[in-house]
Amino acid sequence: MTTLFIPKEITLSETRVAATPETVRKFIKLGFQVLVEKGAGDGSFITDKAFEEAGASLIETAAAGYSQADIILKLHPPSPHPQSGQHEAALFKQGAIIISFLWPFANPATIELLAKKRVSAFAMDLLPRISRAQKADALSSQSNLAGYKAVMLAANYLSKIFPLMTTAAGTISPAKVVILGAGVAGLQAIATAKRLGAVVEVSDVRPAVKEQVESLGGRFIMVEGSEALVGTGGYAKEASPEFLKKQQELVGRHIMAADVVITTALVPGKPAPKLIPASMVKQMKRGSVIVDLAVEQGGNCELSEVGKIVVKEGVTLIGLLNLPGLVPLNASQVYAKNLLAVVENLYPKGNLALNFDDEINAASFVTHDGKIRLPNVTEFVSKRGSHGNS
Ligand code: NAI
Repeated sequence: MTTLFIPKEITLSETRVAATPETVRKFIKLGFQVLVEKGAGDGSFITDKAFEEAGASLIETAAAGYSQADIILKLHPPSPHPQSGQHEAALFKQGAIIISFLWPFANPATIELLAKKRVSAFAMDLLPRISRAQKADALSSQSNLAGYKAVMLAANYLSKIFPLMTTAAGTISPAKVVILGAGVAGLQAIATAKRLGAVVEVSDVRPAVKEQVESLGGRFIMVEGSEALVGTGGYAKEASPEFLKKQQELVGRHIMAADVVITTALVPGKPAPKLIPASMVKQMKRGSVIVDLAVEQGGNCELSEVGKIVVKEGVTLIGLLNLPGLVPLNASQVYAKNLLAVVENLYPKGNLALNFDDEINAASFVTHDGKIRLPNVTEFVSKRGSHGNS
């Protein structure tokens, strides 16, 4: 029988977990044996008992789970344990499969270790954004929640309310929200801010999103010349300094009048575009709020700080990391479902079919059979050596 193992995440402050009682039940129905490390669900308020009742066996230590696991379901890339220093991947069985976020370019040493251990490693972050893969798309499932939570945080820190309110003591105008980047997180932020009654304006370099923005009730700020910035896979291309300057001038006027700015602009493999320089923050309304969802990739705002909420120039800058982790119940629920979809795709008729003709497997398996499979990752790892962070 194939054994699945879900460890407790060792990344500091992580609240999410890679399975729920619902997915455990489904895996057992599909014929898997499921092991869960004790306390794995604590951060998501899922008790050991709930996992047990769903049919999982509880395991005392991660090492014991890894030694039995044919398939490991995880959230963060395997990494050295913060206390013992022991690398999680060193505990995996030879030939095991791991399905998790891997960020291979940030973790070349881990990728090498996985290849050496002949582990087949599926990166959730490399999943192609195609219709057939939507059920498994964890970047989308987590960004969607981040977009929602960004608006909640903004509303919480804002010096005024979101909706228009007509009262006996006068009319309160609705909050003006500007959203930069209308990908998955940005679109959810638009919908959430509109539901709260805000007036929403949006900028993105992909003109194709104009229609989506408008269908959610947002106003699209079109920047001339953006047609050329649509890259492969539906992602944005890096904009030129000239384009960014033009965009800043146009969008800047809206930002200066805004109560809330939510930034989600990203370009794959590049630092986040700097859309709000310090000089623009200076001209914003006192008491306004910026939520910078791109802070981990360098930030869309020059003044936001990683992992912090700071006030500068009278503007509250929210640079918190892991917003999905602030709604762990739903974040774990949808991430666990994404993993279930990946496993179902690997076991089409109940048997393992590591089929690399399948577009999903071909794009997402970083290592297999002792080798790093993806040419650009192989090249990157060999250039960097094994000294990258993991
Ligand atoms: P992302 O997180 O890479 O980027 C967020 C947004 O920032 C994008 O909309 C991008 O165009 C925008 N951006 C980049 N530079 C900017 C700038 N200078 N100013 C303003 N905005 C800027 O994107 P995400 O959310 O991961 O989505 C990427 C693409 O994948 C989208 O086209 C989305 O529609 C598509 N997608 C397709 C799916 C499917 O068909 N299965 C599922 C999910 C996403």
